[in-house]
Amino acid sequence: MGTNEKANEVSTETAEHESITPSDGILTQEQDAGAGGPIILFFIFGLVVSLVIGWVVFPKLLYSSKKQPIDFNHAQHNELVDEGCESCHFFRDDGSYAGVPTLAQCIDCHEEVNGESEDERIFVEEYVAKDREVPWLIYSRQPDCVFFSHAAHVKMGNMDCVTCHGHIGESENLRIYRENRISGYSIDIWGENIAGIKRNSWDRMKMSDCSECHVREHVNQNSVQTLKGGCFVCHH
Ligand code: HEC
Ligand code: HEC
Ligand code: HEC
Ligand code: HEC
Ligand code: HEC
Repeated sequence: MGTNEKANEVSTETAEHESITPSDGILTQEQDAGAGGPIILFFIFGLVVSLVIGWVVFPKLLYSSKKQPIDFNHAQHNELVDEGCESCHFFRDDGSYAGVPTLAQCIDCHEEVNGESEDERIFVEEYVAKDREVPWLIYSRQPDCVFFSHAAHVKMGNMDCVTCHGHIGESENLRIYRENRISGYSIDIWGENIAGIKRNSWDRMKMSDCSECHVREHVNQNSVQTLKGGCFVCHH
């Protein structure tokens, strides 16, 4: 009897000394069985923390906010100019798009301050008087490797500015510009919604958004050109 007990003790001892990993696992599981409640709570807590980090904190950290050098009221100016959007955003004689306006489009009206606005005072004193262009931040700016032509879309494709830009042209204020700290791109490229949900055609302008429309338009208008070129349609 006594020897048997001794032998048993020895065998369990050697088992512990050999410490085989699978039995370790089983031991912990048995010990944890009573602690199920706290563990589930801990798991839920962890889940909530990672969701908050993923959906709220990460996007905030990922984008840095920049203010435009001065504000600009589109709605007000559309009433003041003669040729609508084209007074400031037009095609040059060579067919290229002028894009964001230069002082040349403002100077006729802003040699002197017209109104009470602080933004206008800064505009006239810091830019017009010193003949310095305003360093506007461009929401829709694509990476340098992307080729985009307004002529193909606005002139040939007859597309509306709103389709790609939203309602900036009717807005009263310029919104804050948000720059992705990793890629350096504007938030308008990959979109505001981190789950990738797109409600409007202008919510983002990623590679897949460009191709999506090209495929659709190819079906509608038979413009085979944009598909045959493969990658080189947009990356020259
Ligand atoms: C008096 C001049 C003027 C007129 C008229 C005007 N704009 Fe602008 N527009 C500006 C200036 C200045 C900016 C620069 C702000 C910026 O960096 O986005 C701008 C920027 C824009 C942008 C943003 C480009 C980008 O990605 O940053 C769009 C889109 C635009 N205008 C559309 C329109 C449309 C549509 C109309 C007509 C309904 C219009 N604009 C009329 C002066 C004008
Ligand atoms: C047809 C004349 C005209 C042109 C062209 C024009 N402006 Fe103006 N702008 C005005 C007038 C008038 C006001 C004053 C409105 C008020 O404060 O009552 C004004 C106001 C402003 C203001 C202050 C209000 C605001 O936030 O928009 C800024 C800034 C401004 N203009 C910038 C520009 C820039 C930049 C351009 C060129 C891209 C430009 N303007 C072209 C007539 C013009
Ligand atoms: C098919 C989509 C599409 C349409 C339609 C479109 N744009 Fe754009 N726009 C873009 C893209 C993409 C860029 C960025 C181009 C780049 O970075 O090379 C851009 C850039 C701009 C810029 C800034 C250019 C710069 O870099 O100085 C202005 C201003 C602008 N668009 C105004 C307009 C106006 C006004 C209209 C309507 C007449 C219009 N766009 C129609 C897609 C579009
Ligand atoms: C809403 C629809 C739409 C969107 C969005 C769009 N495109 Fe297009 N694109 C077209 C259509 C339609 C054509 C063909 C125009 C034609 O030839 O009639 C075209 C033509 C082109 C061409 C060929 C131009 C040429 O000279 O043959 C290029 C390059 C191009 N798109 C680049 C882009 C890029 C880059 C983007 C995204 C930033 C983009 N497009 C977004 C509709 C779209
Ligand atoms: C319809 C236009 C279009 C076509 C066709 C296209 N791209 Fe793009 N591509 C874009 C735009 C717009 C971006 C920038 C936005 C983004 O990152 O989604 C981009 C970004 C990229 C980038 C990332 C560059 C960077 O600086 O982040 C790579 C790599 C790339 N494209 C490769 C390709 C390859 C390979 C093909 C062919 C299979 C292709 N593209 C076809 C429009 C296009």
